[in-house]
Amino acid sequence: MKLLVTGGAGFIGSNFIRYILRARPGVSVINLDKLTYAGNLENLAGLESHPRYSFIRGDICNRHLVSDIMSGGVDAVINFAAESHVDRSIMDASPFVETNVRGTQVLLDAAVAYWKERLNGRAAAGAERPVIFIQVSTDEVYGSLGPEGRFTEESPLKPSSPYSASKAAADLLALAYHRTHGLPVIVTRCSNNYGPYQFPEKLIPLMITNALEGRPLPVYGDGLNVRDWLHVEDHCRALELVLFRGRPGEIYNIGGHGERPNIEVVQMILRLLNKPESLIRFVKDRPGHDRRYAIDPSKITRELGWRPRYTFEEGLAETVEWYVKNRFWWERIKSGEYREYYMKMYGE
Ligand code: NAD
Ligand code: DAU
Repeated sequence: MKLLVTGGAGFIGSNFIRYILRARPGVSVINLDKLTYAGNLENLAGLESHPRYSFIRGDICNRHLVSDIMSGGVDAVINFAAESHVDRSIMDASPFVETNVRGTQVLLDAAVAYWKERLNGRAAAGAERPVIFIQVSTDEVYGSLGPEGRFTEESPLKPSSPYSASKAAADLLALAYHRTHGLPVIVTRCSNNYGPYQFPEKLIPLMITNALEGRPLPVYGDGLNVRDWLHVEDHCRALELVLFRGRPGEIYNIGGHGERPNIEVVQMILRLLNKPESLIRFVKDRPGHDRRYAIDPSKITRELGWRPRYTFEEGLAETVEWYVKNRFWWERIKSGEYREYYMKMYGE
């Protein structure tokens, strides 16, 4: 199976590529990534000469490039490519609409066109099999929960931020291509991921690296917003199952009952690093800040037998250790553009 993985130089995409090459000897990967501020080829260090891996630097919005890649032979597309940070979408929504919505449309168009071309017999054998399209989406499309309840696949879409609105739009486009063109699209909606190679603008790596540098830990609002944490490798295993056994046209929620208030996560990190709670600073809240996310994963568990392997305690301890051991990886990132952005946003 030949996979086109988009956004494979980012956090989850790079973890997925490493995982799938290890787990599935019959799978080869083409990684298409624009290398935005969040894309980093160091996340894939060691794979450069892997016989089943190749990298193309490019934009998913580039129709010609995407069609050319598909014409070379692709069995499935897994679309990770996105602008992914909520705070950035509040500053400027344009790149979010461009990549997350238009980019997804370009990929969907190319997948449909390539499938039809293969059906017309102009391309290689195996032509009757359509390209499987997995749209990697997020629980944020459902908006915010109160203190009770969980998101199911039937929960209404109520995105709060320009980021989540752009992801919801992409989900609807992808499902429409299934209904209209018969493309075997599957949408996955996962909760907050954490683990190695996560860009240090997101809560967990930001808090770990700030604590290691002895810098303040900025907690938005009252710190009682709840996120449902899942180790990135558990997300990757869920995507593997969806790829091989998921039902076209379906949505699968992915989450491991890892609900924690932000302040508790920050305190856990400080304890693991043996750093004082005096580093915590309560700062002004994120505009439109969703109060609580919680996923009901019973559909993917029932249909595909997926269950997370990591508890949050184990996964967080392992992740903290990774950031301690891989200082060279995050120090370069934090010394550059990220810091300017952060100063502008929160003045710390
Ligand atoms: P990330 O920001 O770490 O990585 C995004 C990658 O996409 C980067 O490598 C970037 O260079 C690439 N990219 C951006 N625009 C592109 C374009 N136009 N063309 C080609 N490549 C482009 O993001 P992530 O945290 O790894 O998230 C990956 C996907 O998973 C996203 O679609 C996100 O919405 C979704 N998701 C993330 C989480 C999470 O907790 N991080 C949870 C659920 C779903
Ligand atoms: O739920 C899935 C989503 O999780 C993904 O779709 C997004 O791509 C990903 O960025 C993430 O979104 P969040 O907004 O939940 O993640 P973030 O790490 O930005 O924030 C997590 C929580 O921590 C949120 O309640 C805001 C808070 N926070 C965040 C930062 C960066 C702070 O209190 N301080 C901070 O400095």
